Parts: sequence; structure tokens; C-alpha cells
Amino acid sequence: MRILSVAIIASVGWFASTGCEHDPINPVDPNPTDTTSPCDPGTVDFKNEVLPLITGKCAMPGCHNSPNGEDGVVLDSYAKILREVSPGRPNNSELWESITETDPDKMMPPPGYPQLTPAEKELIRQWILQGAKETDCAGNVCDTAATPSFAEANAIIQAQCVGCHAYPNVSGNVTLDSYLGIKNAVENNNLLGALKGVGSSQMPPSGAMNACNQRKIARWVAAGMPQ
Ligand code: HEC
Repeated sequence: MRILSVAIIASVGWFASTGCEHDPINPVDPNPTDTTSPCDPGTVDFKNEVLPLITGKCAMPGCHNSPNGEDGVVLDSYAKILREVSPGRPNNSELWESITETDPDKMMPPPGYPQLTPAEKELIRQWILQGAKETDCAGNVCDTAATPSFAEANAIIQAQCVGCHAYPNVSGNVTLDSYLGIKNAVENNNLLGALKGVGSSQMPPSGAMNACNQRKIARWVAAGMPQ
């Protein structure tokens, strides 16, 4: 798909540069990296950011997963998440209300479970404000130049994994809410294989994370897991 769109852009560029005397607009990079995105800048990426976050922190077994979500609320797919959302209107959306609720009897995730960070809540709010669309911006900038830091690798894991891999939900005896837990899972529990579903069950179980994020974690591991 990306190759195809690069080819189309390249041929448009060719016509533009030969069809008139002006400088070609956007000469095509001879070594295209992942810098194209099907989304406008600032668009919240539902498929690669919002969905893994909600499935990772809300749709764990025993919580809002299929078929018997708590209170009938199931949050493991776009169609089902949309039932809890009023597009464009966070304040009329059950999803937004429950993640900003402060009453311990109503707040989501409940007290004692890994919580959504302020930045993660804001991501969900922006997604609702932008119309709660099923966006997929998988072509997003994938920087392969610098060695990813622990902070970068950890941000992905904290968003997508700790709902099932931190107290009180320690699936497969694997905890991923600390540096040592993650390091141990890489060395002893096939964490990298699990991201591809090779040699272990696919992680996250709802579907592989996008290639950019997988590569980021793999490159952090290859660099010796700097802390
Ligand atoms: C919805 C719940 C859920 C989420 C989210 C989740 N896991 Fe898991 N994970 C499980 C369960 C259940 C098991 C144990 C059973 C199994 O291996 O199928 C497991 C097992 C594992 C194992 C052990 C595999 C082995 O062969 O021993 C690793 C490593 C792992 N998960 C990593 C991750 C990572 C990394 C993420 C985030 C990208 C993640 N998990 C997200 C539920 C989850």
C-alpha cells in the first residue's frame, strides 16, 4: 500500500516536473522512510493508539471484554466502543464520563487497577472531539535513526499491556509495570515473540500493535535495554 502510494506520488511528481517550467513540488525522497501518513497532522489514530489503550486498560478478562462485559459494557472493538461515545461531544459520552469520574464506586478503571494517565485521557477526549472516527494512521512517522529510550518503549507497554500485566491482573505470571519486570519478560517470557505471536500467544491478544511500535521495542531490546 505504502509502495503503491509512493509510486503514485512519484509519477505525479514526474508529470509535475516535466509538464511545466516551475520547480517540481516535493521532489521524491530516493530513500523513502515511513514518513507518510494517511491522516492529517494532529489526527488521533484510533486503530493504533486509542483501541490498544482501551483494550489494554478496560477490556481485560473479567472487565469489559466479550462476551459478558461488566454492566453490559464491552470495549473490545470500534463498533462496541462507539456505543459509549457521542461523536464530537465528550461531555455526553459515557466513556469520557467514566474515565473522569472521581467517585471510587464509579471511576474507571476501578481503584487498584492500572489507571489512565492524564495524557491518555486527553488522547481519548481528542478522539471523541474529532468525531470518534475509525482512523488508521499506520503510516505515521517511524523514526529508525535514534536508539529508542526506555521511556519510549515503556510508554507503549504502559498504554497497551499493564491492564493485564500488573496487580491485580497478572496474566501469565508476567508483570510489565516496572523496568525489571519488562527486562525479565524479555529474557524469560519471550516478550518479543509474543508481540508477533511467535512462540507465545499474540500480545496484545486483541491484535498485534503497529509495526512502528513493535520495531521500537525490538530496537530498544537490541540496544541492550538501556534504562
Ligand atoms: C487483555 C489482556 C492482555 C493484554 C492487554 C496483554 N496481555 Fe500478555 N498475556 C495475557 C494472558 C492471559 C497471558 C497468559 C496466557 C497466554 O500465554 O496465552 C499473557 C502472557 C504474556 C506473556 C508470556 C508469554 C509466554 O509465552 O510466557 C508475555 C511476554 C506477554 N503476555 C506480554 C504482553 C505484552 C508485551 C503486552 C502489551 C503489548 C501484553 N502482553 C498485553 C493477557 C494480556
